[in-house]
Amino acid sequence: MKLLVVANWKCNPASFKEAQDIFKEIKREAGLTKTEVVVCPPFVYLPVIGKGLVLGAQDVFWENPPTGGGAYTGEISPAMLKNAGCRYVIVGHSERRRLFKETDEMTNKKVRAVLAKKMKPILCIDRFSQLKGGIKDLSSDDLKNLAVAFEPLSAIGTGKPYLVGKAGKMYSGIREIVGKDTRILYGGSVNSQNAADYVKRAGFQGLLVGGASLKPREFIGIIKAIS
Ligand code: PGA
Repeated sequence: MKLLVVANWKCNPASFKEAQDIFKEIKREAGLTKTEVVVCPPFVYLPVIGKGLVLGAQDVFWENPPTGGGAYTGEISPAMLKNAGCRYVIVGHSERRRLFKETDEMTNKKVRAVLAKKMKPILCIDRFSQLKGGIKDLSSDDLKNLAVAFEPLSAIGTGKPYLVGKAGKMYSGIREIVGKDTRILYGGSVNSQNAADYVKRAGFQGLLVGGASLKPREFIGIIKAIS
């Protein structure tokens, strides 16, 4: 399976100019590796940020209205993301679950809406129940297009990465549930020093990177460390 590194910029940076600068710097080297690199900027930068890297979104609305849109104030539809060039969509990030009360039922609807538009969901979980809820009713073909990101709450944005041994055990449990065709990523305080441990020792097929993905040198260091 091809390794996957996803940059989750979250609600950053504040200006288009900064977004473009970070993107350009990442692109220069990330384009050269065999690892698949996906950048997930805030929605507003998606159509204008540039070309040369695969784009993803950080969230999506769960309905696929026949017209591609509808009366859902504040939401972004799967069709809009597809038309903006997205190939991936992060679903069920812990910040969505905690701050916006997103439930497993909602993440499952989002996962299915993304797949229905032929994009790939990156389902974030920190426990098995979230995984089982998120992949409910998916077919084996769906599972091939899904990536699961194991993101332990204690490690997200804290600078305290999860113990590699413990992450490896979670990896095995997730693998048992999703079968052999789904890529499983690790996320939580990943940096260029610890990145290789999660891939080469714990067995993950890639990484979901928050804070470090806004620092191009560091992010490129992560890609190089695992490639
Ligand atoms: P972090 O965030 O790398 O800043 O810990 C990871 C994430 O929230 O996806």
